[in-house]
Amino acid sequence: MELTAQFLPLAEVQADWLIVGAWEDENLAGAVAVLNDKLDGLLYRLREKKDISGKANDLTPLLGHAGLAADRLLVVGLGKRTKADRSIVQDAAAAAARSITVKKMARMALALPEDVPGLTWSDVALAAGVGLMQGCLGPGLRKSEAARFIPEAIWLVAPPSANRQIIQEAARRADIEGRAVWLARELVNLPPCDLYPETFAARALEAVDRERVQCTILDEKQIEAERMGALLGVAKGSDRTPRVVVLRYNGGGNGRTLGLVGKGVTFDSGGLSLKTSEQMLDMKCDMAGAAAVLAAVKAIAELEIPVNVLGVLPLVENLPSGQALKLGDVLTTRTGKTIEVLNTDAEGRLILADALAYAVDQKVDDLVDLATLTGACMVALGVEVAGLMGNDQKWCDRVLAAAQRAGEKAWQLPMFPLYDELIKSEVADIKNTGGTRYGGAITAAKLLEQFVGNVPWAHLDIAGPAWAEHESASHDSGGTGCFVRTLVELASEYSARP
Ligand code: BES
Ligand code: MN
Ligand code: ZN
Repeated sequence: MELTAQFLPLAEVQADWLIVGAWEDENLAGAVAVLNDKLDGLLYRLREKKDISGKANDLTPLLGHAGLAADRLLVVGLGKRTKADRSIVQDAAAAAARSITVKKMARMALALPEDVPGLTWSDVALAAGVGLMQGCLGPGLRKSEAARFIPEAIWLVAPPSANRQIIQEAARRADIEGRAVWLARELVNLPPCDLYPETFAARALEAVDRERVQCTILDEKQIEAERMGALLGVAKGSDRTPRVVVLRYNGGGNGRTLGLVGKGVTFDSGGLSLKTSEQMLDMKCDMAGAAAVLAAVKAIAELEIPVNVLGVLPLVENLPSGQALKLGDVLTTRTGKTIEVLNTDAEGRLILADALAYAVDQKVDDLVDLATLTGACMVALGVEVAGLMGNDQKWCDRVLAAAQRAGEKAWQLPMFPLYDELIKSEVADIKNTGGTRYGGAITAAKLLEQFVGNVPWAHLDIAGPAWAEHESASHDSGGTGCFVRTLVELASEYSARP
């Protein structure tokens, strides 16, 4: 597949499908008006009769119309122009692509909407391009007959008068970001019999351009040598040995280094604190943080963003067995701090403790971790919003701003010192649960905080947004690839203002 920007009159776009957006709160204008003229007023008549509503993600397919070079036209609602933002453009493009990629096609084109308030041409092209790409890929990785087809070409069409360089640059970024989000979604959707620490690490090696990204894989022996006792404790219950993938991209010369750490539990059964079948059902998604970090580092390197990035992916399986962690066990982390394990299902914070300490030892200047860490975060914020917690308000604000620019939703939770009391242990330095369900997202973050030293750090709990239980108009079910785009956005802002 190739995603490119094209500059030509809409009537001349030769494509299997031409997608065009319509607003809900105004008369058909811009690209729709141009097409309406070519179609002898058909679009206006359909609008009058409410066949074209303009409501967000509403679709009106028009098949085979003389007057256009495209075989078919698909009108997609963009909602109210006054409410528009990046995620609305991205979702509308995805909804359109989802509905038409159930068949093979050579070319899918989209007329870029003009004058979206608050967005530049470049923002619109990036959002639309990524959206179209996401709408081409479903969760059916192992279906014997494919249910969705990626077109051979995707065109973002702008008027001939538009600034070509800016839109071409945005199309290039959309192509790279779109593929990165595909990778994150694919890794989450892969069955856990195929994706486990060793195979995840192999995929990481394959995924990145090794000329630009140094990719080191620590095996069990090397993890022992690195004294990651908490990670090894979690890994003990499984026959599959753990890995730690370390990614280094040095595009920023002597500048500061951004550290990214992602939770990589390739399957979370809970361990001896076994989950119920229902709770365990989707737990192949518990490596979504690691997938997001890998995908983001790949995209950052392909975009040649002038920044230094260190990515750390702790990869384990959390299973019960004769070797598994027991309740009451005490683990010694890389820093020497000891953790009493009172629930083996609170495993994410154990592997992240060692991974964060490792990143700090590699001299990162600022840190972000992403983790499907707690059900409590979903109770607090619902399934579509990530929780953000950290130790430095300025850094948290920068991460929140990057998420907002990327059209992804995160909301900050407090880190008052009073929560520290809840994770004090009688036996060891700390314990791995707060002992109460209340404030569970925060007590998890409080444990992580003890392993980042003085480095500005922000933690994104993505337990909700990483996985979609049901499909919607604009999104497939399964892995969502969330926060890859936020990390790319953060890296580009970081490079501009280190
Ligand atoms: N991986 C889970 C969190 C999770 C839950 C992710 C639902 C996605 C959807 C995590 O390892 C976990 O089990 N957390 C426990 C912590 C508790 C035992 C303190 C939880 O949230 O119940
Ligand atoms: Mn767990
Ligand atoms: Zn987990």
